[in-house]
Amino acid sequence: MRRGTILVTGAAGFIGSHTVLALWERGFDVVGLDDYSNAERSVVARIEALGHRTLTMIEGDVRDGDSLAAALRAPDIVGAIHFAARKSIEESFLETRSYYDVNVAGTLAVLQQCQRAGVNALVFSSSATVYDPAQPAPVSETGRTLGASPYGRSKLIGERMLRDAAQANGQRYAILRYFNPVGAHPGGSIGENPRGRPGNLMPVVCRVAARRQSQLSVFGNDYPTIDGTGVRDYVHVQDVAEAHVHALEALIEGREALSLNIGTGRGTSVLTLVDAFERANGVRVPFAIAPRRQGDVAAMVANVDQAALSIGWRAKRDLEAMCRDAWRFAQTLA
Ligand SMILES: NC(=O)c1ccc[n+]([C@@H]2O[C@H](COP(=O)([O-])OP(=O)(O)OC[C@H]3O[C@@H](n4cnc5c(N)ncnc54)[C@H](O)[C@@H]3O)[C@@H](O)[C@H]2O)c1
Repeated sequence: MRRGTILVTGAAGFIGSHTVLALWERGFDVVGLDDYSNAERSVVARIEALGHRTLTMIEGDVRDGDSLAAALRAPDIVGAIHFAARKSIEESFLETRSYYDVNVAGTLAVLQQCQRAGVNALVFSSSATVYDPAQPAPVSETGRTLGASPYGRSKLIGERMLRDAAQANGQRYAILRYFNPVGAHPGGSIGENPRGRPGNLMPVVCRVAARRQSQLSVFGNDYPTIDGTGVRDYVHVQDVAEAHVHALEALIEGREALSLNIGTGRGTSVLTLVDAFERANGVRVPFAIAPRRQGDVAAMVANVDQAALSIGWRAKRDLEAMCRDAWRFAQTLA
């Protein structure tokens, strides 16, 4: 059954590539847009090989109205998913203007071009970093927001713009606040492969396991958590991808406004994750305790009841699958 075409910005990226496959599985066609600033061009061929079909890609910057308009000329566009953004909290303190430019101006351009093209259903990649970390876990969608970094604030502004556009133009939207997406497609050929030094825990764990880095620095072991290390809500990227399809379907069926946490609702400490990774993969991940990192918080875990209630989505894959799939992909990297 053909269900129309979805514009996916950032389609060659970590979550975008998995979402393209999830959309295809549910009968949607996809037109992707990416400038390959944080992805290899070869990802497109790998998505095509996994999905056994051709992916239409436009190479362009999401801030460029002409590129977006070209992508939106694909036949029968019924919705858009906006992933393309810069995503490092640390980097956002140093390259602040660029973060606001890509993340805020990019979202504005997507909103404008979607409105112009009459595309009414828009899913937006937000983040747990919009929440005020000084509140107890688990945090629900009504929790206090703060945006403690330029990155977090750029996502909060994006959310605000979506809500205002919905009021003004009747655009329907789903804001998905991801917690910590990890893992990879079990096919092993797509996954998280950031350019430069990875900032997230799982890619670093993989580098250490692959002996491309001597040890993992565990930033802080004196937090008020089960073993003193930071606790996060890790969620398999395929579950995250499927959440987008559920949200999009809800919008297409007439839901108007959704803001949802995307996590498992379970907290995992750094040391628990290292242990799970070693057991799942039969490898060693040497680590050393380092001082706390500025801006880190003790625990950030999602309350995920709302996603189950409003779009019928819950994460299905466990920590073992996340570790196994992340490692399978990491072993393919040079
Ligand atoms: N991965 C996470 O841990 C995480 C957590 C919360 C939110 N998010 C958000 O999810 C979205 C996707 O994240 P990801 O992990 O897949 O990141 P990613 O960097 O792997 O993917 C983003 C893609 O967008 C492309 N891109 C970046 N700037 C662009 C521009 N100006 N024009 C066109 N394309 C551009 C990149 O080349 C890349 O392919 C981002 O908006 C990110 O902020 C990610």
